[in-house]
Amino acid sequence: MTVVYFDSPMSDDERREKLFGGDLFMYSPTPNSRALVEFARQMSEEASAPHFPPDAQHHLEGRAYVDVLASLKPTFINHPRSKELVGGVLADLGADVQQTYFDVPRLRSMTSEYLNAGLTLQFETHRDTWFSAPMCQVNWWMPVYDLAETNVMAFHPRYFAQGARNSSRDYDYEEWVAHGRASAAAQIEKETRKQPELEEEIEMLPDIRLIPPPGGVIVFSGAQLHTTVPNTSGRTRFSIDFRTVNRADVEAGLGAANVDSECTGTNLGDFLRVTDLAQLPAEVIAPFATTRG
Ligand SMILES: [Fe+2]
Repeated sequence: MTVVYFDSPMSDDERREKLFGGDLFMYSPTPNSRALVEFARQMSEEASAPHFPPDAQHHLEGRAYVDVLASLKPTFINHPRSKELVGGVLADLGADVQQTYFDVPRLRSMTSEYLNAGLTLQFETHRDTWFSAPMCQVNWWMPVYDLAETNVMAFHPRYFAQGARNSSRDYDYEEWVAHGRASAAAQIEKETRKQPELEEEIEMLPDIRLIPPPGGVIVFSGAQLHTTVPNTSGRTRFSIDFRTVNRADVEAGLGAANVDSECTGTNLGDFLRVTDLAQLPAEVIAPFATTRG
């Protein structure tokens, strides 16, 4: 059974418990999520002017389009206002801002039948926990413009409690940070960087696709198996996502069950406390910093 809670008044503690059991949450836009989306729109519209961002792919050739994204995305990610608004979204949705740590929000674009590598990479079916996320990681995702069922994310809830053969054993977070991420802008047509992926056929259907309005928020466990649906909508999808951990969960080793993640290293060093952007203490991260055996 997978439950989708819509605008649930549940506390953050209860919500995380449900998320770790595989349930999904969706919320109407909040004051801060609206502001975050507005901020992303302004920035994207400036960057792709005179074209409307969802349509700019039809007006620019590959290199020029990648150049637009290459400057837009880091600017959004690193902007202090983005971090401030993420903290606001979390407070709006009941997270304990003293206990909650987030990583910087990503602005993602998914072109429609166009480029598929590097900065426009279409993520194959995966769990974030294959990428060295802790089992207590919670993912937050919101569209910047209107969605279609052909440019969203699909969840495969039947695999929440069931493992699927995958190559996460070859992924190490520190190695990725050292070599993989920096080369994203260099990849235009073909993805050559090594990413954890499925090594068996799974039952892709039926899947669950949640379609909130712009600024609406989908919340799901980092252990949830999900796929970016091949975009055939004719328009580029823009979305914002970020991840959180609750410090008490990290310290207690709580979270979803690990059914098939074998990666090493940890992304926990990337998380910043909502109140003061402090990192988790080294001794809290240390138990997660596994190395390849
Ligand atoms: Fe993901």
